[in-house]
Amino acid sequence: MAVDLLLGLQWGDEGKGKIVDVLTRDYDIIARFQGGPNAGHTLEFDGIKHVLRTIPSGIFHKKAMNVIGNGVVIDPVVFVKELEGLDQFDIDYKAKLIISRKAHLILPTHRLLDAASEASKGKAKIGSTLKGIGPTYMDKTGRNGMRIGDLELDSWKEKYRHLADKHEAMISFYNVDIQYDLEEMEVEFFDAVERLKELTFIDSEEYLNEAIKAGKTILAEGAQGSLLDIDFGTYPFVTSSNTTAAGACTGLGIAPNKVKEVFGIFKAYTTRVGSGPFPTELFDEVGAEMAKVGHEFGAVTGRPRRCGWLDLVALKYACQVNGVTQLNMMKGDVLSGFDSLQVCTAYEYKGKTITHFPYNIEPENVTPIYTEFPCWKEDLTKMTSADQLPKELNEYIDFLEKELEVPIKIVSVGPDRTQTILR
Ligand code: GDP
Ligand code: IMO
Ligand code: MG
Repeated sequence: MAVDLLLGLQWGDEGKGKIVDVLTRDYDIIARFQGGPNAGHTLEFDGIKHVLRTIPSGIFHKKAMNVIGNGVVIDPVVFVKELEGLDQFDIDYKAKLIISRKAHLILPTHRLLDAASEASKGKAKIGSTLKGIGPTYMDKTGRNGMRIGDLELDSWKEKYRHLADKHEAMISFYNVDIQYDLEEMEVEFFDAVERLKELTFIDSEEYLNEAIKAGKTILAEGAQGSLLDIDFGTYPFVTSSNTTAAGACTGLGIAPNKVKEVFGIFKAYTTRVGSGPFPTELFDEVGAEMAKVGHEFGAVTGRPRRCGWLDLVALKYACQVNGVTQLNMMKGDVLSGFDSLQVCTAYEYKGKTITHFPYNIEPENVTPIYTEFPCWKEDLTKMTSADQLPKELNEYIDFLEKELEVPIKIVSVGPDRTQTILR
């Protein structure tokens, strides 16, 4: 068995990019299995910060191959900008990055449809990153989409035209004021497609299963987080893919019995960007302090992230749905010096105390019940080994491990690669 999964357990931005980069030394292949340029995965090393969108977070390592799986949706325009960002770092991405023929393409009109759909929703909008994710997955499941493999056909532009024309008619159906110049967008898109075609397209399920047979090790990199999963997240305020463990099987063509470890990543507190319920959200100066110290601004949209206490009801649910075998706790350094910590261990739900994640978690249904902890005062960011961690932090970790019944194996104490403590 040679495949491990790494997944976000909250509403995204847990620090997946950082940990994939740290773990890549132990793997032959890093494979993204879902999502698209709605993701922003941040890596920091040698004083430089990199934000990856569609490209797997193993790309900076000499040895590893990076696969964009069939479950991913690719916008050639964003993708080419990402490649250009790598140019200055002397990365041989033509040799180290390969793309599934079955991955779907985000067209310019998918982005426009996303904008039109959101505009039509008014206050009920999802808070989408407006990267065209929802409309692209709709075309995939509606069996109308275009795939990377289509770009190998001479007739791909006819297929494109047909779909884009249909999208334009749909945009007018929304009857909202969306200004755009499709011809201009298409020039950029067609140019980007030509650059994209310089990369290698493969039957990635074949490639990955052959690699497994040959004894190679694979780390599957998730995007978003479990609470944004299309089935198990806070629907409809979710993304349009399965961000949970099963999504790695369908998004890569790997059978469930090939999966070994499932690494679940969570922040020592909680954040969310975009709309939707968030039971432990803080609207006071404590939440503002988390946002300030944690630099909680979206890596893709720059929007401020909403902040709140750790929610163990939600985290337990995510561990269960994913079969998490090891936890990684991120950003504990952000909480240093807080007066005290609160952890939500149950919800008061329609007059009852519950410990499972219910169907409705809107504020009118759910009031979090908290357990209070003393907070550590020490600066964690220079610590390098588990024996340096303060007593209060160890107590916090012990409590979480007991509640979640999963060991916390990595404690991250800063954004840099080196600020990573193994337990
Ligand atoms: P991802 O989408 O899960 O890869 O996470 P993002 O990159 O969107 O957001 C995580 C942010 O936290 C990035 O700015 C990281 O550089 C930063 N980060 C990751 N781990 C830590 C940590 O342990 N402490 C601090 N202070 N920042 C961290
Ligand atoms: P990473 O991989 C945080 C959120 C959006 C919005 C909802 C739907 O960096 O953790 P979409 O663009 O998918 O239609 O948006 O999901 N969202 C994310 N939030 N991190 C992400 O990715 C996200 N990708 C989407 O803010 O609420
Ligand atoms: Mg992110």
